[in-house]
Amino acid sequence: MSTQIKHQTDLKHLAINILDNLNTAVVLLDSQLNVLCVNSAAEMLFSISLHKIASKPIAQLLNDDELITAIQSALDTNHPFTQRERSIQLIDKKVIVDISVQPIQSEEDDKYLLIELSQLDRHLRISREENLLAQHETIQALLRSMAHEVKNPLGGIRGAAQLLERELDNPDLAEYTQVIIDEADRLKKLVNRMLGPNTRPNQIMINIHSVTERVRRLLKADKSRDVKIFFDYDPSIPEIKFDPEHLIQAVLNIVRNAAQALSEQEQDNNSESEYKKEKKIIIKTRILRQFNIGHKRHKLVAKMDIIDNGPGISEKMQERIFMPLITGRAEGTGLGLSIAQSLVSQNGGLIECHSKPGKTVFSLLLPIP
Ligand SMILES: Nc1ncnc2c1ncn2[C@@H]1O[C@H](COP(=O)(O)OP(=O)(O)OP(=O)(O)O)[C@@H](O)[C@H]1O
Ligand SMILES: [Mg+2]
Repeated sequence: MSTQIKHQTDLKHLAINILDNLNTAVVLLDSQLNVLCVNSAAEMLFSISLHKIASKPIAQLLNDDELITAIQSALDTNHPFTQRERSIQLIDKKVIVDISVQPIQSEEDDKYLLIELSQLDRHLRISREENLLAQHETIQALLRSMAHEVKNPLGGIRGAAQLLERELDNPDLAEYTQVIIDEADRLKKLVNRMLGPNTRPNQIMINIHSVTERVRRLLKADKSRDVKIFFDYDPSIPEIKFDPEHLIQAVLNIVRNAAQALSEQEQDNNSESEYKKEKKIIIKTRILRQFNIGHKRHKLVAKMDIIDNGPGISEKMQERIFMPLITGRAEGTGLGLSIAQSLVSQNGGLIECHSKPGKTVFSLLLPIP
């Protein structure tokens, strides 16, 4: 008997575990359309915890009268329904989902409604991310082999120019050999950046706020810009397994871009009202539950948003900014973001970008082991 009970409890735990590992959001309602239970994917979709929403009416999840009426009628008529690619209005956002609503009757004649929502824009995001990473890896490999080929003869060119300089009778001509040496040095620096970091990540357990605090100190030294940086932390984020130097470099590359975009905006747009607008960068940290980075599902992910209120990045540019050598700045090399993406993906994470004029967000998604 007792083994049977244990077996039942095991099964119950297993069922809960399975529900929480589904990619589909599941919501169970009672006959009054109050929420009985939501799984982890539903907590993510509605940005609310079961604890907060339990026993509350469905209207606190959906801001969509038409859908609520359809759900009510499914309950009344006992008819299930499915809608594909339906855009639904949640409390804080609009999403596109496949939705199934299934009335259930218990043995005691109690009525329930089971709602399943599969978010379609999320699938698009995942395949876009996979593509982005694959594309990035291919280009990176191509560039590295090219950089190697360029790097080798550079040493020879520089050495020969030095030898030549020593042999010159006319010292005025040294001006020319110096140009060769300086340009060879500049090219070597560029090629080294293109080759990227050649050390394997030294992953240790770190608190992401120790990294943001180091970035804060580093930026304090750089007082030349009238850009203010604000920090908005979730102090409960567990430690991540990451190479701290890699994370600092990635964050710095993104923050520097934001600061550059903000200071350039002033030169372009000197009108009174624009001038008065405070130039802001916000570094914000949060936890995401049951989140995909590419196709890999993670129970917990630390998300660090670097937000600026600068001019934004055009849609066409947004598709390409993580590729090496893509730049929108006259003096840019276009390597900053490509390096940042490499560093973060070497550690299992991903950088995403969303931008519109006045709000650009770079999100670092970092898996929590
Ligand atoms: N926060 C931002 N706001 C507006 N544009 C941005 C922002 N971040 C990046 N960009 C655009 O993306 C481009 C690519 O950035 P990336 O850091 O890769 O190269 P870069 O800054 O041009 O050169 P480098 O970092 O190698 O010196 C930038 O030139 C800029 O046009
Ligand atoms: Mg840059």
